[in-house]
Amino acid sequence: GKPDNCVLVIFGGTGDLARRKLYPALYNLHVDGFLPDAVGIIAVGRRGFTRESFHDEIVLPSLKKFSRRASELDAFFKDFADRLYYFQADIYDEEGYKRFKRFLTELEDATGCTGNRIFYLAVAPEHFGPVVRGLQDAEMIPAPGWQRVVIEKPFGYDLPSAAELNRHLRAAFREEEIYRIDHYLGKEMIQNIMVIRFANTFFEPVWNNKYIDNVQITSAERVGVEDRGDYYDRAGALRDMVQNHLLQLVTLVAMEPPASLATEDIHDEKVKVLRSLRPMDEGAVNRNVVRGQYGAGEINGQKVLPYRKEKKVSPVSNTETFVALKLFIENFRWVGVPFYLRTGKRLPAKVTEIIIQFKSLPDILYFKEYGELRPNLLVIRVQPLEGIYVQLNAKRPGNNNYIIPIRLDFCQNCEVGVNSPEAYERLLYDVMRGDPTLFTRWDEVEAAWRFVDPIAAAWAARPPLFPNYAAGQWGPPAAQELVIRDGRYWWQEHEMQ
Ligand code: BG6
Repeated sequence: GKPDNCVLVIFGGTGDLARRKLYPALYNLHVDGFLPDAVGIIAVGRRGFTRESFHDEIVLPSLKKFSRRASELDAFFKDFADRLYYFQADIYDEEGYKRFKRFLTELEDATGCTGNRIFYLAVAPEHFGPVVRGLQDAEMIPAPGWQRVVIEKPFGYDLPSAAELNRHLRAAFREEEIYRIDHYLGKEMIQNIMVIRFANTFFEPVWNNKYIDNVQITSAERVGVEDRGDYYDRAGALRDMVQNHLLQLVTLVAMEPPASLATEDIHDEKVKVLRSLRPMDEGAVNRNVVRGQYGAGEINGQKVLPYRKEKKVSPVSNTETFVALKLFIENFRWVGVPFYLRTGKRLPAKVTEIIIQFKSLPDILYFKEYGELRPNLLVIRVQPLEGIYVQLNAKRPGNNNYIIPIRLDFCQNCEVGVNSPEAYERLLYDVMRGDPTLFTRWDEVEAAWRFVDPIAAAWAARPPLFPNYAAGQWGPPAAQELVIRDGRYWWQEHEMQ
C-alpha cells in the first residue's frame, strides 16, 4: 500500500549521496506508484539554485545517470519534479531554520502533507547535532504528525563517539523514529537470507556447528577510494565495512529464528549474535585479524596508483584498505565454527558472497579412489550476480565411479524480466511507511563497536608495514594463511582459478 502523506526533507540535498542514490530511488518509487499521494521532497542546500535550475542541473542528470528507469523520463519526470522543491539555507544559520519553517508549513498546507515529517541527514555526522538543534529551536520538531530521522553511516568512529552522536539524535527523536541506514540490508539477496534459512526444510535442521564447517563472507571491490579519500583515510576498511555491513551479514546468517517477524523480535535476535561474538584481546587480533593496504598494481590490465598516492590521502597513511578476520560466536548453535570475513578495495573482483561450507562425510568407501570429494557448499550471491547455488557431489556419467561436484544454481538476475529494485528504493519506502526492520537499532551499533574497538586499538599500538598487497591481488599473503593454516580455502578464489 501507499505510505501516509508526508514531506521528506533532505539536508545535503545537492551532495553525492542524494544525487547517486536518493533521487534515483525516489524517482523509481514514483514510477512504480509507491510514493504517497501527497508528498513534498525538499532538498536543502547552501548553493543558490532556483527550483527549475535544481531540477535541471542536479536531479535530471542524476536520474539519467543512475536510475534503472531512465528510459521512462519523458513520461514520468514532469510529475516527479512537481513534488520536488529546493530550499537554500546554511545549516549553521539560525535565521535559515526560521525561514525554512515558514516554507515547510506553507508547503504542507498547499499540498495536504498533513504534518508528517521525515528528515534525511545526508550530511557528515558532525553536523547531525547542529541540524537537530536547529530543527528543534525553529519548532519543526516535534512534528504535528509523525516524525522520523534518517542517518547514514559512519555512526561514529568508535563506541564513545557513536554514543555521543546518538545522544544528539535522542534529544529530539525516540529510538523508533531513528532510521540508521545500512544499505546492505536493502539488497535483495540479503533480505533473502532469512527466507532461505527459515522457509526451507533443507537448511534449518543442519544450520549449526554439527553440520557447518565454516562460514565465509567476502565483500570485495575493484575500485580504489575514488573521491572519498578524506573520509576513507580516517575510517579505513574496518570501520567502513566490517563494523556495519559485514557484521550485519553475520547477524542474519547466525541469528536464531525470531519469535515473530515484528521489527523488535528480529532486532532482538540480531543483537544477541553481536553480543555473543568472542571478544578479541591483542593476542587474538594478532592471530586472527589481517590488515592490508594496496600498493601500485593492475586492475583489468590498467596500471593503478598505490593507496598513498590517491587524492586526499596522506602520503604516509597507515589506513587499512583490506581486512580479513576470523571470528567466533559463542553460543550453543555456533561454538567452534569459524566465520571468516574479508573485504577490501582494489581486489581482483567486485563480488559480495556468503558461503556456508558444510562438514564433509567420512572419506571412506570408494570415494577416496575416484577423485577428491568437495564439501557441500551453499553460496548466497549478493552481487553482482544475485542468486543462490548449492554444490553437491555426483557421479560423472560413464563406466567409472568418478565423483564430480555439480551445482544447483538459481540466478535471480539472469532470469528474464527480473530487475531488482535498488537497496535505497526499499529503504526509503520503508522509512515512509514506518517500518524500521531493515535498519539498525542502537544496541546493534553499540555491540558492533564493542567488538571492533579492541581490534582498532591493537592496531594503533603496532604500526603496520604498508603497502603489503599489490592492487589487483586478494589482499596480503597473511589473508591466505589465515584460512590455509586451518586447512581451508577462500572459495571465491579457488573457484576463479
Ligand atoms: C559503503 C562504503 O558503505 O559501501 C564504501 O562506505 C563501499 O566504501 C560501499 O564502496 C560498497 O557498497 P556496494 O553496495 O557497492 O557493495
